Amino acid sequence: MEDLSGRKPRGLFANKFGVIAATAGSAVGLGNIWRFPYIAGENGGGAFLLVYLFFIVAIGIPAMLSEFTIGRAAHKNAVGSFKALSPRSKWFLVGMLGVVCAFMIDAFYSVVAGWTLEYLLKALTNQFCGKNYEEIQYLFSGFQQSAWRPILWTLVFVLLSGLIVMSGVEKGIEKYNKILMPLLLLILVILGIRAVTLPGASMGLEFLFYPDFSKITGSSVLIALGQAFFSLSIGMGALITYGSYVRKKDNLGSSVVTVALSDTLIAILSGVAIFPAVFSFGISPDSGPDLVYQTLPNVFAQMKGGYIFAVMFFALLFFAAITSTISILEVVVAYLSEEKNISRRKATALASGGIAILGCLCSLSLNAFPQLSINGKDLFSVLEYLSSNVMLPLGGLFIVIYVAWFFGKERLYKELSSDGRYKVRYYKFFLFLVRYIVPVAIGFVFLNGVGLFSI
Ligand code: PHE
Repeated sequence: MEDLSGRKPRGLFANKFGVIAATAGSAVGLGNIWRFPYIAGENGGGAFLLVYLFFIVAIGIPAMLSEFTIGRAAHKNAVGSFKALSPRSKWFLVGMLGVVCAFMIDAFYSVVAGWTLEYLLKALTNQFCGKNYEEIQYLFSGFQQSAWRPILWTLVFVLLSGLIVMSGVEKGIEKYNKILMPLLLLILVILGIRAVTLPGASMGLEFLFYPDFSKITGSSVLIALGQAFFSLSIGMGALITYGSYVRKKDNLGSSVVTVALSDTLIAILSGVAIFPAVFSFGISPDSGPDLVYQTLPNVFAQMKGGYIFAVMFFALLFFAAITSTISILEVVVAYLSEEKNISRRKATALASGGIAILGCLCSLSLNAFPQLSINGKDLFSVLEYLSSNVMLPLGGLFIVIYVAWFFGKERLYKELSSDGRYKVRYYKFFLFLVRYIVPVAIGFVFLNGVGLFSI
């Protein structure tokens, strides 16, 4: 329903479970299943996983809680929240950084989500079963060589996510999330079991779980931080926006911890499903963004019921991707419709149009037009690196500093305790973390990672 200005009245999540389902829908996505394994593969495996886990707990959870707090206190989009809470200040620029970052992430994310659709079609038409390793490798390179196919899928995906955000079916999505996310978990467990029983699987498990710290560098630590932010959907206002839909009486702290733990579990399970297969088939763990698409079809090809598992896996991956995209697009759309006073429909069309163009350029930079590059890096990787490893950590840093030092201690306690409804035993610890530890840690990792400072 739209009001006279053509805007939808602000909705609220129905209950705490709705909050968790929607937030988990945002967090669990390509970041866990596509990005985590390939990034861990490029950065040495076990040691990277440890650093990543540390960041999830020590930085990610406090930052998530900070975003939720801002959003629920202000009941507005990422930019409007800062304007409402700190009028006549420059803090709204943090929200703007988030909107730009959301736009960039959505562009390359839609390209990879498009690959998922292509693979769903391949699974449906039974193109994996009975194929050997070379033939499966060729499926991906053949797909990339026809530049228009990836573009077509990117456009289909952008269109679909635009339609969902436009018609506000988020509530329906919440409902499906509750069934489909546990199903995704189940499939990952089954795939994991199949993968660890492949010949040579133990090398993959060792790669994922045995920490070899000699492989850790300043830049891989920053990449682990970027991945923690990316996977938990923090640093660009997605959770400020979602926080603004949380009811006053729901407990923010416990929702955040539940989502962060489930998200991490799914990432690790993806690793367990993928790395044993990577080593078993002799694939290089650092083969980059196409790792999952090159690896798992081999597992499907060799397992009983591979056809049905392949179809279910890619369908669920697509679903996980779209529930995340909705939260990314929502950052841009909520900003445009609330701050620029345009209807939700127009805002979605405008944002999706821009994302579609940038997404196509990203896709082309990977195949037909390698000239689309900056400093020798293709546009896709440039957007991915800048948004995840620069903008999200910086956005997260400012958000945490804002909550710790500018939001007001009393207001903070009120939000965290839902007006005194819940005991916030972690309050002092949280304040200590967000005041000192988190900002210093992000600042240090960032400067060290980009090479401006080293120990
Ligand atoms: N967390 C999502 C994923 O893992 C991606 C995302 C990033 C969503 C940033 C919102 C904000 O796929």
